[in-house]
Amino acid sequence: MIYHYFFSVLIAALVSRAATASFAESCRSFSVKLADNNTPPGGIVEYVSAGTDLPLPYNDPSCNRPNQTVTADLCRIALDVSTSNLSSVVLELWLPRNWTGRFLATGNGGIDGCIKYEDLAYGAAHGFAVVGSNNGHNGTSGRAFYQNEDVVIDFSWRALHTIVEIGKNLTSRFYGYPHRTSYYLGCSLGGRQGINAADRFPGDFDGIVAGSPAVDFNNLVSWRASFFPLTGSYNSSEFITRAQWTGLIHDEILRQCDGIDGVWDGIIEDPTLCHFHPDPLACTTTAHKENCLSAVQIETVRRIFSPLLAGDGELIFPAMQPGSEDLAVERLYAGKPFSYSEDWFKYVVFDPSWNPAYFNLYDAETADALNPAEIRTWPSDLSAFHARGGKMITFHGQQDNQITSFNSIRFYDRLAAGGMQTGAEQMEAFFRFFRISGMFHCNTGPGAWVVGQGGGASAAGIPFARENNVLAALVAWVEDEIAPDTILGTKFVNDEVGRGIQMQRRHCRYPLRNTYIGGNASLPDSWMCL
Ligand SMILES: *[C@@H]1O[C@H](CO)[C@@H](O)[C@H](O)[C@H]1NC(C)=O
Ligand SMILES: *[C@@H]1O[C@H](CO)[C@@H](O)[C@H](O)[C@H]1NC(C)=O
Ligand SMILES: *[C@@H]1O[C@H](CO)[C@@H](O)[C@H](O)[C@H]1NC(C)=O
Ligand SMILES: *[C@@H]1O[C@H](CO)[C@@H](O)[C@H](O)[C@H]1NC(C)=O
Ligand SMILES: *[C@@H]1O[C@H](CO)[C@@H](O)[C@H](O)[C@H]1NC(C)=O
Ligand SMILES: *[C@@H]1O[C@H](CO)[C@@H](O)[C@H](O)[C@H]1NC(C)=O
Ligand SMILES: *[C@@H]1O[C@H](CO)[C@@H](O)[C@H](O)[C@H]1NC(C)=O
Repeated sequence: MIYHYFFSVLIAALVSRAATASFAESCRSFSVKLADNNTPPGGIVEYVSAGTDLPLPYNDPSCNRPNQTVTADLCRIALDVSTSNLSSVVLELWLPRNWTGRFLATGNGGIDGCIKYEDLAYGAAHGFAVVGSNNGHNGTSGRAFYQNEDVVIDFSWRALHTIVEIGKNLTSRFYGYPHRTSYYLGCSLGGRQGINAADRFPGDFDGIVAGSPAVDFNNLVSWRASFFPLTGSYNSSEFITRAQWTGLIHDEILRQCDGIDGVWDGIIEDPTLCHFHPDPLACTTTAHKENCLSAVQIETVRRIFSPLLAGDGELIFPAMQPGSEDLAVERLYAGKPFSYSEDWFKYVVFDPSWNPAYFNLYDAETADALNPAEIRTWPSDLSAFHARGGKMITFHGQQDNQITSFNSIRFYDRLAAGGMQTGAEQMEAFFRFFRISGMFHCNTGPGAWVVGQGGGASAAGIPFARENNVLAALVAWVEDEIAPDTILGTKFVNDEVGRGIQMQRRHCRYPLRNTYIGGNASLPDSWMCL
């Protein structure tokens, strides 16, 4: 009996070591040949074992990803493939030894050309063959767009579609059989990329997670550009200081709105119910003070929390939702140009002489009319994706400091009531939108924000289960037809997994909202989706 057990373990260990050796060997000898039968120059094909801290020395320093810890044995393929005679895409395809037959593509952020290595590691750790790219240029600046429409086309849609085609092809050749199911995971610009793919290439993915999506992209760029002329420069006399935003104004917003959901916890479950009035903060004398707002400042605050409208009163972009001040001060309200908008106007819409201090409605109109490389991403109909059985999960932080979450409501309502003419029931069959209370842009925040949205440090703290994790929920929906009703979010103490859970909350799918029903508010059963 004992011998028998000993030998089984020994044999299992030997088999597993042999499998590792042959996996590493088949990786090293894998020959990357693309459609034209050429191996792209400068490619990397290497075996990476679990636990490696992979150095990324040639990655653009502005991407701030000097290395990446890899937690699964995998075959890493990095290639620079041309997309036109004036443009190319750097892709990384990570093929785990323990493959589930699932394929996953990852997205980008801002106007970045930055590969999200943490999302590659996250996908590989859960058995996906996972691909990501620099979206056609390197680094966080938009300079590469200037007078090169091909780079803009890559950024708009071509880079993602290209890496999906190549990625699926190499995946199949590497393992000897094709993927069974195909997924996408991205947030912010990456959310836009996912929705754009569902619209433009409905066959690319069976399931898409599109977080905090940068849809209606041209108008989003304008909305973000509108803050600098509105707040004025950080050194101007009427500038609203960080202390005023994070103390005075945020406190007053909570005083007016935090209790609406039934609990005073610093988290506004549904900011659409918060109709904030800044007037109680007005200074009673004309003297400028830190603990009150001048008449000009009151007007600035009022405009920040109002929709951006064109001259004819038509909506350009919805208002910022109240509650996000603590982080919005870092960029949108910082009294400085918002770099992504500045670069877009300088290098895509106009030219480098464009001055962000004078952004105006004409600029907004020009950008939207130009719609460079058809980047807008504002479909009113995703029925082709739906008809193929595609499933979409979107989510949006209710304290998003960079893209107002009201825009995701606008997008959902447009799909439901507009082009698809389906109504809520048919939407539910393929498209679900979760409002993540207490979350800033894509991650972090005072609420239960960890939902498996990417490979940040906290993702490892929650189980890869459909109840807790948006990617696992998507897999269950696509493969087992179990549609997600809620997503259980987790907040770790100090956002450190090792310090244990501070609170959890089940986030509701729109249009339902979370309402307190009694008990310990840090526990999910104390809330209900109504
Ligand atoms: C991959 O691409 C090559 C070259 O175009 C093609 O011959 C092959 O059939 C493709 N394989 C798969 C699985 O798509
Ligand atoms: C990886 O990068 C982090 C900073 O991002 C640094 O602290 C760490 O030392 C680096 N590790 C290696 C092996 O380069
Ligand atoms: C690049 O390709 C386009 C057609 O796609 C062609 O018109 C142009 O001449 C090419 N430019 C160069 C520099 O080869
Ligand atoms: C391979 O993945 C399965 C689930 O997908 C998991 O149960 C198993 O432990 C993994 N094996 C290794 C060696 O990682
Ligand atoms: C981006 O950087 C990679 C190195 O990581 C390089 O191979 C590639 O040529 C660069 N792409 C562009 C468009 O500069
Ligand atoms: C504010 O700072 C900018 C440079 O950052 C400078 O050009 C401008 O003159 C300053 N304005 C005032 C009122 O100090
Ligand atoms: C409420 O639940 C949280 C999270 O489990 C826990 O840390 C806290 O101690 C509970 N509070 C009370 C009063 O039981």
